[in-house]
Amino acid sequence: MSRRVTVPEVARLKKMGTPIVSVTAYDYTFARLLDRAGVDLILVGDSLGMVIQGHKTTLPVTLDQMIYHASAVVRGVAQAMVVCDFPFGICQSGQEVVLAAAIRILKESGADAVKIEGGVEVAETIKGLTRQRIPVVAHVGLTPQSVKSFGGFKVQGRDESGAEQIVADALAVEAAGAFAVVLEGIPSPLAKEVTRVLSIPTIGIGAGADCDGQVLVLYDLLGLYDGVTPRFVKQYMRGGETICTALEQYAQEVREGRFPGPEHGFS
Ligand code: KIV
Repeated sequence: MSRRVTVPEVARLKKMGTPIVSVTAYDYTFARLLDRAGVDLILVGDSLGMVIQGHKTTLPVTLDQMIYHASAVVRGVAQAMVVCDFPFGICQSGQEVVLAAAIRILKESGADAVKIEGGVEVAETIKGLTRQRIPVVAHVGLTPQSVKSFGGFKVQGRDESGAEQIVADALAVEAAGAFAVVLEGIPSPLAKEVTRVLSIPTIGIGAGADCDGQVLVLYDLLGLYDGVTPRFVKQYMRGGETICTALEQYAQEVREGRFPGPEHGFS
């Protein structure tokens, strides 16, 4: 049965123990496919800086670019919830900038919610948005926008104080009103513990099987991205190879005069 995934629906999924399925998307065509496949939550992630734009990190992505991609995704979706990432630099610029950015995202793209990276340090920011009834997904652990201070894409919360910090971060964003939290790149037992202590759903990526849901970057899942593939990624197809084979076949047929055939022309 088709249903629109809303904020209360996401809470209900946790309550029912139904895993939340999330994948990133950045355009209309893939958004339609994800929606057709029954994905609950489509994340327009700033990972687009890496897999679409070819940057080494997510830091260069701008608000205008996020809105551009989120609007294309929203146009392809009938059922899934669409969440749009705040790009790097918004949360660092004060609450007025934050509020203006969230309003632009919701108004101009039609996304249902925004996602913000960070824990205790962004709790007030999240509170400012949720007080205005702007739905927020939080994101703690290996937050890619902090890659420079982490010294690379490194698993977080491995030692006791790191683990305590992540629990504190998760509790702070929940108290600030986030309706879900992405747990990225943390040990599986820690993700299990965070999921146990929170009443909002956790959505894991590189955080083990005990989260309330899972998210993957679409281009990783389909085997399209040939940059570094983290250990936590499962490639459900070798998309890059399949596409290359098709393109090589097209090139060969054009070069040999076998495409277009008579059936592809007009009389
Ligand atoms: O930007 C992104 O795609 C993300 C997911 C990896 C959670 O934040």
